[in-house]
Amino acid sequence: MKRLGLYLHFPFCMNKCAYCDFYSVVNYDDVERYMDALMLQCEDYATSCEPYAVDTIFLGGGTPTIVPEKQMQALIDCIYENFNVTIDAEVTIEANPATVTLGQLKKYRKSGINRLSIGLQSVCDNELKALSRVHSYEDFEKTFKMARKAGFDNINLDLMYGIPEQTMDSFIKSLETVVELDPEHISLYNLKIEDSTPFGAIRDSLPLPDEDIEFAMYEYAIDYLTRHGYEQYETSNFAKKGYECKHNMKYWTCQEYLGLGTASHSYFRNTRFSFIKDIDSFVSAIEDPDNSDVITDENYTISPRERVGEYIMLSLRLKKGINVTEFKRFCGMDFEKMFEDLLPPYVSNGFMDRTATGYAFTAKGMYVSNYILSSMLDFSSEIDKNIANGKDK
Ligand SMILES: C[S@@+](CC[C@H](N)C(=O)[O-])C[C@H]1O[C@@H](n2cnc3c(N)ncnc32)[C@H](O)[C@@H]1O
Ligand code: SF4
Repeated sequence: MKRLGLYLHFPFCMNKCAYCDFYSVVNYDDVERYMDALMLQCEDYATSCEPYAVDTIFLGGGTPTIVPEKQMQALIDCIYENFNVTIDAEVTIEANPATVTLGQLKKYRKSGINRLSIGLQSVCDNELKALSRVHSYEDFEKTFKMARKAGFDNINLDLMYGIPEQTMDSFIKSLETVVELDPEHISLYNLKIEDSTPFGAIRDSLPLPDEDIEFAMYEYAIDYLTRHGYEQYETSNFAKKGYECKHNMKYWTCQEYLGLGTASHSYFRNTRFSFIKDIDSFVSAIEDPDNSDVITDENYTISPRERVGEYIMLSLRLKKGINVTEFKRFCGMDFEKMFEDLLPPYVSNGFMDRTATGYAFTAKGMYVSNYILSSMLDFSSEIDKNIANGKDK
């Protein structure tokens, strides 16, 4: 049977963090109606998913933990009724500290959710405040301890660097405190100032750390986390052995996933599509089958050029990098020849390593990977030439 990851989006938050551009709304008054729409969507996709075994489920947001327990249980039952979920599926829920109780966590565990991802960001309350988070470090610590008590033995913590008011010392304090708690997985994101957010509007007046300090934080984190048993397996992700996030690995290795709910994205049956970012229009369209075509935002079959571009981008985000032999098998092209002008300077300037099997970013390269990858993709006119010559498979 083919394998599939399932993502469900919960677009609710208690408060909108000033930096966040994920689609979510505050004080939504009809969560139950949205949950019913999600269940209808599960039923709609049941037939097309029959040939698949669902081995990862990700309940993400927004803040899924806002949903009342009974409604969440009904949705989980509906997922198990409509999809072939494997017995050992990784089932993750995202939680914002201070939005969950011990009783809720125990119920999640009982219903088959076996991985918890908690958004902490920083252990320093002044930084949490600067980010407009609704919780303190103490709230987080209570949530973490409750999660252990409820039986979660696979927990991820989200941390950020490059936060307003953050210093090298306060960042080290966050790392040390988190490692002391001993979670299985740590995601470490560089705060991105998105134009569409309140932070975007005041970008220039934010007390952000200097770029070179930000890079020093990232380098320090890689070294510190590696020394404490967390292996970096992707640009922003570190895990103890065997605890890499299986669901996210599907995104990074071009495997299939189906996203349900408003604003979710899918790569399913060689097509990429996403659903509209508007909770009310989404729900109305799901309820009225005559309207069902309006829920799709983007829907397109991936061209050979895009497939190659994605393969390069996603492989290089992984710590192990790109394997040139596998790349050749994937698309029939020679990676080294394609980038013969770019690779030598990237290696000699310390952005990439020539590995035994191909190329991988160094820490310095990972830090600026978005810039390097966009130059590589701009440069890859060779892809078109090769495709035109019929070398693509
Ligand atoms: C979509 S949120 C969901 C988790 C949950 N709502 C929470 O905030 O606790 C997942 C993570 O994305 C990260 N994130 C969101 N916006 C970001 C940004 N602009 N830059 C970097 N990381 C960001 C945060 O670390 C957050 O914990
Ligand atoms: S970071 Fe999390 S809690 Fe904050 S607005 Fe985004 S999804 Fe909501």
